Amino acid sequence: MAPERSTGNRIGAEDIRRRKGGVPIVCLTAYTYPVARMLDAHVDLLLVGDSVAMVLHGHTTTLGASLEMMIAHGQAVMRGSTKACVVVDMPAGSYETSAAEAVASARRIVEETGCQAVKLEGGVDLAEQIAAIVAEGIPVMGHIGLQPQSVEKDGGYKIKGRTEENIAALFRDAEAVERAGAFSVVIEGTVEAVASDLTRHIAIPTIGIGASGDCDGQILVIDDMIGMTVNRVPKFVKEYANLRETISDAAARYAAEVRGRAFPGPDHVFSATSGKDKV
Ligand code: KIV
Repeated sequence: MAPERSTGNRIGAEDIRRRKGGVPIVCLTAYTYPVARMLDAHVDLLLVGDSVAMVLHGHTTTLGASLEMMIAHGQAVMRGSTKACVVVDMPAGSYETSAAEAVASARRIVEETGCQAVKLEGGVDLAEQIAAIVAEGIPVMGHIGLQPQSVEKDGGYKIKGRTEENIAALFRDAEAVERAGAFSVVIEGTVEAVASDLTRHIAIPTIGIGASGDCDGQILVIDDMIGMTVNRVPKFVKEYANLRETISDAAARYAAEVRGRAFPGPDHVFSATSGKDKV
């Protein structure tokens, strides 16, 4: 078992592992300092997902994420949070080739960000990498089911668990990730009943996204959850706010006031006489 990395009041990977079967674990992605500050009090775990490549950088898939990109966003999220367990995704190309490559990349992420754990996608095929990283004392979160880093290989975003053969493969993946020492595992884009059975089958917490309400926790991409997504919103997303509309409305009002010389008004300029003016 990996040693506990939490310090002070911050939730650690082992705290998350102990939550199996308990009150659902609340997880969201975060990529920036201000968003981490806003979310920290409300969640148990913040994931600096490689979805950052699509959500903030405009790439078409998560394959656009690099180690440097993940480290920069990991540092920002760590600066903005004091309580949540922060997990940073290992980007495609940083861990698949060998256990030595995986350990070197995981070490860089943890040393340069101070995060509590790393996440990587894969089951049976990546068990050696997970075990090697855990043996270094770095907690690992697994990720099975739909794996966005494999979208090109899979020919698109395909829901998992729809054939007997695929269900058996999912069970093998879940068992392999658990046996390799992961403290929890994300189950993405998987038939509800299968995700529910997987949750009962393994002893580490499952974190669902497009999976099942029976999972031990849930995660959503923050920009999807607050209605910032500009492209198609996936079926599994519930929008709890509509910031697209709020931002677009604010920009339209600002544009109208600038064009009409209504902004800046007296409240937003400095007079020569008042000593009380502060920037
Ligand atoms: O990159 C990401 O945001 C993720 C979540 C969808 C689990 O891996």
